[in-house]
Amino acid sequence: MSTAFLERKGLENPRLEADLLVAHALGIERLQLYMRLDQPLLAAEVDRARDLLVRRGRREPTAYIVGHREFYGRDFQVGPGVLVPRPETELLVDRARELLAGYEAPRVLDVGTGSGCIAVTLALELGGSADVHAVDISADALEYAEKNGVRLGAAVTLHEGDGLETLRRLAADRPFDLVISNPPYVEPGEAAGLDEEVRGHEPAVALYAPEGDPDRWARALCELAGSVLEDRGALLVELGHLQAARASDFAGPKAVVHDDLSGVPRVLELRPGA
Ligand SMILES: C[S@@+](CC[C@H](N)C(=O)[O-])C[C@H]1O[C@@H](n2cnc3c(N)ncnc32)[C@H](O)[C@@H]1O
Repeated sequence: MSTAFLERKGLENPRLEADLLVAHALGIERLQLYMRLDQPLLAAEVDRARDLLVRRGRREPTAYIVGHREFYGRDFQVGPGVLVPRPETELLVDRARELLAGYEAPRVLDVGTGSGCIAVTLALELGGSADVHAVDISADALEYAEKNGVRLGAAVTLHEGDGLETLRRLAADRPFDLVISNPPYVEPGEAAGLDEEVRGHEPAVALYAPEGDPDRWARALCELAGSVLEDRGALLVELGHLQAARASDFAGPKAVVHDDLSGVPRVLELRPGA
């Protein structure tokens, strides 16, 4: 019944999704569902499962419904008001770890931290002596970042406010070894092509390029890089798939772009002092 409902709503994997949501409503793992097949559900369990299925039928992201999403092998709490971490963003973290290997206590800023997935992961992967900061303009997002940092035991200093202003202010105290960012980069013409899960549910401030200019954030970070980074410091910025072709225009000849696992140019790296 639940599979047929999600199939009618046009979901691609209705059986898998229905199993996952019913299991979540019962507080068990998906495989345990089959061991419970001959046990009738309690009325409260039926109500809980129905509620989750109706939400999914309205195309609410599964991560919001179950309340978490895995990133870099750890579970991050998410919900309405914060972007669901994407697997391709793990490439930013991989490259950051390579660049910071050998640093004793690197100073890092994550600009537009959302759920905190990048900053919290880096704080944990780099070890206790890293000085990791994260900024977001959204108070809702920062609540998740704070919860995730506490739950996962990561030391991250959070700042609420505009990312570029905060970067300038913090760098005036001491420049950073790494500035890292997955900015909002959806271009106005791309919005109609987004899945309903994204367009209808994830926060606009996390998705859409400010003032309709997809390069604005990356360009501004590149322009600031020389003054906010240590001599050997690096800037890493996630790019949208249409942006890479313009990267040398807005980032200059020193910038390199790394492909993700699907071969899509994804991460801009700039080391102004190299
Ligand atoms: C694409 S999301 C990335 C979230 C997270 N870093 C990730 O990779 O899942 C962009 C984030 O930037 C934040 N943001 C948007 N405009 C901002 C601004 N002017 N200053 C700081 N953060 C901003 C949004 O609230 C959102 O959390």
